[in-house]
Amino acid sequence: MFVTFEGIEGTGKSTQIGLLDAWLREQGRATEITREPGGSRLGRELRRILLSMESSDLTGQAELFLYLADRAQHVATVIRPALLAGHDVLSDRFADSTVVYQGYGRGLDPKTLHGLNEVAVDGLWPDLTILLDIEPEEGLRRALARNIAEGTHASEGRFEAEHMEFHARVREGYLTWAALHPERFRVVDASASPEVVHARVRELVAAALDEKEQPGLRM
Ligand code: TYD
Repeated sequence: MFVTFEGIEGTGKSTQIGLLDAWLREQGRATEITREPGGSRLGRELRRILLSMESSDLTGQAELFLYLADRAQHVATVIRPALLAGHDVLSDRFADSTVVYQGYGRGLDPKTLHGLNEVAVDGLWPDLTILLDIEPEEGLRRALARNIAEGTHASEGRFEAEHMEFHARVREGYLTWAALHPERFRVVDASASPEVVHARVRELVAAALDEKEQPGLRM
C-alpha cells in the first residue's frame, strides 16, 4: 500500500509518519519511509539545490522540473521497487505538492502540472493521501519552533521565511485539490494533539487497507 502525506509546513507530517510506521510494523507489515524532495540518490542532490538559499534565482519553471525529476527517479528507484517487494511505502509529500505549491501557490496551471505529474509518476498514484490541515499561522509557528529547536541551518528555512499570504494560498489550494480527488484524499484536522491525529490516521489507513485487500467485502 502506498500512502502519501501532504500539508503546509508545521502540520506534523513526519511525526505522523513515524507513528503510523510503528503501528503498521506492530501489525506485522513491512514498511518504508521516504520523502520528496530527496527520496532517491539523485533526489538528495536535487533537494540540496532546491532548498538552498543560493538557488533563489531559480526560475519557477526550472524549479518545477527539478521537483519532477526528483519524483520520476523516486518512483522508479525507490517507491515502485518497495511496493513490488510487498512493503508499505509512506511518503512525506508527493505529486500533490507540485500541483499545490507550484500551481495554487506560484500561479502555474494546476491541470498542466497534473499532466506533468502523470509523466513523472508513470502510472503509480497513491492508494491514500492524507492531507494534514492546519491554519497557516499555527503551522508556521510550529515550523519555526522546530527549526529553532533543531538549530536547522538557515538554508533549510527558505520556504518558512516566505510570507503568510503564500502559505494561506497553499493551504486553500490543498483543500481545493483534495475536494477534486475524493477517492484518494482524506483531510485530517492537524491542530489536535499528535495522539489524536494519529488515531484518526490509523482509522483511515485501516479502512484503506480493508478496501485494498478485501475489495469484495466492501459494503
Ligand atoms: P521540507 O523541508 O521537506 O518541508 P516540509 O517539512 O514542509 O515537508 O521542504 C520541502 C519544501 O518543498 C516544502 O516547502 C514544499 C516544497 N515542495 C514544492 O514546492 N513542490 C514539490 O513538488 C515538493 C515535493 C515540495
